[in-house]
Amino acid sequence: MPISIPIRSAGAPAPARRPGFPGSPAGKSSGLTSLPPLSLYVHVPWCVRKCPYCDFNSHAAPAGDIPERAYLDALRSDLEQSLPLIWGRQVNTVFIGGGTPSLLSAAGLDELLAMLRACLNLWPDAEITMEANPGTAEAGRFKDYAASGVNRLSLGVQSFDDAQLRALGRIHDAGQARAAIEMAQRAFPRVNLDLMFALPGQTLAACRQDVREAIAFGTEHLSLYHLTMEPNTVFAKFPPQLPDDDTSAAMQDEVEALAAAAGLQRYEVSAYARPGARCRHNLNYWEFGDYLGIGPGAHGKLSFPDRIVREARVRGPESWMTRALARDGSHVAESVEVGPDDLPFEFMLNALRLKDGVPAASFSERTGLSLAVIAHQLEAATERGLLDPDPTRLRATPRGWAFLNDLQELFLG
Ligand SMILES: C[S@@+](CC[C@H](N)C(=O)[O-])C[C@H]1O[C@@H](n2cnc3c(N)ncnc32)[C@H](O)[C@@H]1O
Ligand code: SF4
Repeated sequence: MPISIPIRSAGAPAPARRPGFPGSPAGKSSGLTSLPPLSLYVHVPWCVRKCPYCDFNSHAAPAGDIPERAYLDALRSDLEQSLPLIWGRQVNTVFIGGGTPSLLSAAGLDELLAMLRACLNLWPDAEITMEANPGTAEAGRFKDYAASGVNRLSLGVQSFDDAQLRALGRIHDAGQARAAIEMAQRAFPRVNLDLMFALPGQTLAACRQDVREAIAFGTEHLSLYHLTMEPNTVFAKFPPQLPDDDTSAAMQDEVEALAAAAGLQRYEVSAYARPGARCRHNLNYWEFGDYLGIGPGAHGKLSFPDRIVREARVRGPESWMTRALARDGSHVAESVEVGPDDLPFEFMLNALRLKDGVPAASFSERTGLSLAVIAHQLEAATERGLLDPDPTRLRATPRGWAFLNDLQELFLG
């Protein structure tokens, strides 16, 4: 899933600088001594039906009827126009997210991956993840996706309770979810299951049962999301009855304990993995790596010798397709330089989501700024018991993780 990061003001005063790259424009340097690892995000914007809780850039395509030919042509055009921004750089991970990428035909997905290989310097051992909805799962197509190069499937299960799945407006029942997991495990070397908890009317026992069932499939990775009420969704307009704060906190504790007992370590707010099975693509976001985002509404963050830029594509699928095919750059809705006033917050917003945090040195490596620019905030956070005092790591304490918003806000501006 793409991480949505607030884009705040750009063009702030220049930071204290270290030498730039050879050949970087005179007097202008991001302060980066090397470029971070690069990932690719590809957005597929259609779903069979819009779920009432979901605020992703996803649009109903009844009967799964999507304009695949036009989409692939526009994607090629988007990618080709982006190439000068990442010229020569190796792409380590690919994430095909949505929406529901499993609405793509096997031939369409094959064409997409062939296009990526032809245009990009794609690392031979790249992690290539694709999201799928159990309501669109087919064994044959899963095998074809894998044969084309997808080596990790992320399945949106949400719950194993039929009544709950209906309340969530899902297009599949629990039986279809179970069958899709089995198909996925037969077809792909790596499988993630998405589950949500603190669902309408959910009891602690029902939450426990869902997580136990997910664990019983023996998968290497779970994403366990606390259901959030997002603005402009059906649930925001007609709020369902949700578990109270104490119950949902108890669910969070229980979920973590059950996962840990099964060898799945919580390594990020919502991510749990066996050793060696962490999602490399998402780790790159949290470690403030670079990513190119193509497709409608996709976000990107790209570093250059003289600047760090955030990009966002036009959100509407039709508009993005028309504009991308026009090859005039109008499919890029936003391209802003992230200034030194914003970089510390953006870096910390991501890094502190990781349970083990990040090495302190990576702050300078990824932002080009000296750690001294956040010395006051680090001190304040440590004094309040929110940040680990270890000077070699930037890591929340258990208390800081419990009050993550408060901790992250300390680094605002
Ligand atoms: C793009 S969807 C996954 C693939 C597919 N679209 C599906 O839903 O099956 C990404 C995941 O985000 C989670 N999600 C979406 N909206 C959420 C919300 N409001 N609160 C918590 N998790 C949410 C769901 O677990 C969902 O599986
Ligand atoms: S299927 Fe997934 S992306 Fe589509 S509306 Fe539902 S949660 Fe959102």
